[in-house]
Amino acid sequence: MKFTFANPTQPSRGVAVIFALEGNKLTPSAKALDTATGRAITRALKVSRFEGKKGQQLTLLAPGAAGAAAKLDRVVVVGLGKAKDVDARRMQDAGGAAYTALATVAQRADVLVDQVSKRGLGAGDAAAEFAYGMRLRSYRFDKYRTREKPEQKPKLRTARICGEGAARARRLFGVHGRIADGVFLTRDLVSEPANVLYPVEFAKRARAELRKLGVKVTVMGEAQLQKLGMGALLGVGQGSVRQSQVVVMEWNGAPRKNTRPIAFIGKGVCFDTGGISIKPAGGMEDMKWDMGGAGVVTGLMKALAGRKAKVNVIGAIGLVENMPDGNAQRPGDIVTSMSGQTIEVLNTDAEGRLVLADVLHYVNERFKPKFMVDLATLTGAIIISLGSEHAGLFSNDDELSAQLSDAGEAVGEKVWRLPLGPAYDKMIDCDAADMKNIGGRGAGSITAAQFLKRFVGDTPWAHLDIAGVTWSKKDAPVVPKGGTAFGVRLLDRLVAEHYEAG
Ligand code: BES
Ligand code: MN
Ligand code: ZN
Repeated sequence: MKFTFANPTQPSRGVAVIFALEGNKLTPSAKALDTATGRAITRALKVSRFEGKKGQQLTLLAPGAAGAAAKLDRVVVVGLGKAKDVDARRMQDAGGAAYTALATVAQRADVLVDQVSKRGLGAGDAAAEFAYGMRLRSYRFDKYRTREKPEQKPKLRTARICGEGAARARRLFGVHGRIADGVFLTRDLVSEPANVLYPVEFAKRARAELRKLGVKVTVMGEAQLQKLGMGALLGVGQGSVRQSQVVVMEWNGAPRKNTRPIAFIGKGVCFDTGGISIKPAGGMEDMKWDMGGAGVVTGLMKALAGRKAKVNVIGAIGLVENMPDGNAQRPGDIVTSMSGQTIEVLNTDAEGRLVLADVLHYVNERFKPKFMVDLATLTGAIIISLGSEHAGLFSNDDELSAQLSDAGEAVGEKVWRLPLGPAYDKMIDCDAADMKNIGGRGAGSITAAQFLKRFVGDTPWAHLDIAGVTWSKKDAPVVPKGGTAFGVRLLDRLVAEHYEAG
């Protein structure tokens, strides 16, 4: 979709989107259109259930019988709720809602944006946020649908957002659009089936997407991972005919080249059968998105490089496929991680932590980052704890933890901190090796996090367990069902708020 920003205009033909506040108070440009249509809009609102509340919308067909708006085909009225509550997220959600009302009915639309309260969002900001919401909602993964009829596909191509501050809106959307590009890359990666997106293919796509933006991309194959001593990661992939890969992405955007980087690490299990500790058949197809953490890190790098973020950042992803096979890792096998710590693999389905253990250690040792944040669809237990409302947050650093919580609130990707502690750590102690890869029956997400903590040294670190939020079965305002890319907007925000120079 294409977005253009223009100065205030009253559309006299085609499709227009206007706004109403709670109590059906029309914004100034909506009021002007109402007048131009002989108050058709006011009358339509009166005979409907529309009240101007957030999330509400109403479509009027051919409202201008005579006069200036006689050729208007359709007016979509979008509710914004109370004026004092109209913030960036409210405008994004409105954009998402409007997209669904427009997608199948028009090729282009004019959106009439105003500033709705003196202290609230300026019109330029409101316009950019609205466009961002539309763009985020417009995502569709339809490359394998070869028999879909044209009338089943969305036809909206262009939105012209009209209002004061068009220049500012254009500039802001320049940034938002790059973040959306990153979100879309993540959604694409997460949606691909595992026969298409296996580790080597994932690495290829990361390289192809990021190199052109100036990101240095290094791909390591099994021979090199062996040399580095990544026995934990390699053990997971050894039952697969697909080669394991580790991809390191470096974006150097800080004004001073030698600024210590920050680092994001992702679990990239391209398919998780559970291995020899095999999963039940029902729902196993979901495990194609067990590379969600790696997908987020890759999309985040695209967003940061795309908007030329003034920060040095490392993205590192461990890509493997967890399969049962004659050569697969067995329960009871003992592997040696790159850190030198040994692990008894009591359940081959607790594989994500094995992959992350080596990548976390590698990144920490090689780059000495200011902090590390890892993302992983790590445990089913986090879905039991938090459902799909929050990702689980675990951290050894209160400041980083608070920054992540705030960023999550700001973008609507919420995280909830869970505890760590010596009593939980003890639960992965082991007689046969330095640790085992599963805890007891309880606190499954916490013992998984404790396991990771053993590989991060003293570096400030946070772990986001995104198993419950990576895939959605229902549409949300700016997130269509399917791969959500939860984490891209959150971490972009974290960087923008706290880690960019100037
Ligand atoms: N990838 C799964 C976790 C998962 C489950 C992600 C459901 C998304 C949806 C992970 O590798 C796993 O299998 N975890 C096990 C750990 C257990 C064996 C200790 C789990 O959660 O059951
Ligand atoms: Mn597993
Ligand atoms: Zn897994």
